[in-house]
Amino acid sequence: MRVLVCGGAGFIGSHACVALIAQGHEVVIYDNLSHGTTSAVDHISQLSGVDVRFVQGDIRDRTALEAVLSMGFDAVIHFAALKIMSESCRFPLLYFDNNVAGTIALLQAMQATGVQRLVFSSSAAVYGDPDAVPIKEDAPLRACNPYSHSKLVMERLIEEVCEARPSFSAAILRYFNPAGAHPSGLMGEDPCGVPTNLMPYVSQVAAGLQDRLHVFGDDYPTRDGTGVRDYIHVMDLADAHTKALELLRQGGCHVLNLGTGRGYSVLEVVSAFEQVSGCRIPFEIVERRPGDVAEVWADPSRAEQTLGWHAQYDLVRMCADAWRWQSMHPNGYQSAQVIELRPAAPSGGLH
Ligand code: NAD
Ligand code: UD1
Repeated sequence: MRVLVCGGAGFIGSHACVALIAQGHEVVIYDNLSHGTTSAVDHISQLSGVDVRFVQGDIRDRTALEAVLSMGFDAVIHFAALKIMSESCRFPLLYFDNNVAGTIALLQAMQATGVQRLVFSSSAAVYGDPDAVPIKEDAPLRACNPYSHSKLVMERLIEEVCEARPSFSAAILRYFNPAGAHPSGLMGEDPCGVPTNLMPYVSQVAAGLQDRLHVFGDDYPTRDGTGVRDYIHVMDLADAHTKALELLRQGGCHVLNLGTGRGYSVLEVVSAFEQVSGCRIPFEIVERRPGDVAEVWADPSRAEQTLGWHAQYDLVRMCADAWRWQSMHPNGYQSAQVIELRPAAPSGGLH
């Protein structure tokens, strides 16, 4: 298929592009570079051996999107969103504008140009504080902050479009906790400053960029008192996107959890990271972080049945790949521009 990957210059999108190209798909990346980088695009080209086309543009710019989509696409994969929960509480309008208004513009542009398949990045954040684990897709949905609320609204919008237009099909993929990096060490998560998520923060402590990890609470009702999450390797997520595209050939609207089905505590992540890196990770127990919940892990059985997909990589492998990326790029993409950079094209222009 010819696929427009919105947000393809970011963490998960860049890994998905490599997987898509390996499966024989043609990829065009559309990204406003608010968080992604052209270095990621160059690394996609380097890893896949294909000169990947990149358009710098914003998904809220419907005219630019229509210009690109009218070149003829079979599907869109939509990663383009702002994703930091704490930031969303400070800037709710920014989050609704970027995420929700952006998705409306994208859906309108798809309708105007006759593109009928969409794979959408959602999040386990839509479950809020779950009643029970493992979480199935039909569990109650509870938006507890503007970020997760924006994801819920976007999910609903996509479902409504599917209901109104039977020719339109979508896969709504609820990621649990993405982690790890490409095994080459060439691509990974670039937090652009101090990370808010656990795995990149632990990587920076191991690398000496942060002096210690702050463990947010050790009084949760979990096996060691720290929060438990379902970490999933970004390569497994990438693989699921290629399978979701195949599923959309059959039509329909599918909501799928993407997780391993297994939870690890903060201290278990620290221990696994110490094991693979050989570095000590100093930590200090501090207050719980507002908005955190005790335990979140997926029941991924629907994805297994529907996509024929299950996660291949375990926590040790996630830590090993995250550590390789961290070691090769101590300050993210900025610090290891080992290949020639490609200048960004103006909005709407391919190169
Ligand atoms: P990321 O920030 O690395 O990538 C997002 C990309 O989208 C960036 O390259 C950014 O420049 C681009 N973008 C943002 N707004 C845009 C806009 N208006 N127009 C064009 N491009 C825009 O994030 P990621 O971790 O790769 O996340 C990808 C998707 O997965 C997001 O939708 C996110 O909400 C979702 N998700 C991420 C996680 C996680 O922990 N990483 C968990 C669950 C869901
Ligand atoms: C967080 C966001 C969620 C978002 C997701 C992906 C919150 C409350 N939730 O999920 O909305 O979808 O990231 O971006 O922000 N931890 C520490 N110290 C740290 C960082 C994390 O102890 O420095 C702990 C947390 O308390 C949690 C676990 O590590 O128990 C995982 O945290 P994190 O990686 O931030 O993911 P989530 O909280 O699951």
